[in-house]
Amino acid sequence: MQLTINGESRDVDVDPDTPLLWVIREELGLTGTKYGCGIAQCGACTVLVDGYPTRSCQTPAESVTGAEIKTIETVEETETGRRVVEAWVANQVPQCGYCQSGQVLAATALLTETPNPTDEDIEYAMVNLCRCGTYNKIRAAVRDASEA
Ligand code: FES
Ligand code: FES
Repeated sequence: MQLTINGESRDVDVDPDTPLLWVIREELGLTGTKYGCGIAQCGACTVLVDGYPTRSCQTPAESVTGAEIKTIETVEETETGRRVVEAWVANQVPQCGYCQSGQVLAATALLTETPNPTDEDIEYAMVNLCRCGTYNKIRAAVRDASEA
């Protein structure tokens, strides 16, 4: 099947119900997307599908043929993604780092849709789990990256 990942059309030979996460990591070698829970709870596997944060561990590959899929590897190609990464660095958000690609993509999706989010918008959008408890720094970085 054909998948459009990071602006490139990729031909992958997998079962239709293979989780998108495994296509990205195992078939395409894009290992910035992480496996956490595998049951759509933690958000470590977040990618953007047509701009929406999507849990790739529970997304069958066949369901996203024809969609634009974006992973952490190219997040800085957009102005918003670049601002988010800069804010993450400035605020020294990551601790172990495992959840952070998903967090950055969730923040990028939020700020693309809502450049000046309220605290409630941030609470609503930033729901990925972080076992290191970096939530306060995540919120600070999202505010820094907003246009306000
Ligand atoms: S690994 Fe997909 S949500 Fe946890
Ligand atoms: S930085 Fe370690 S899980 Fe989030």
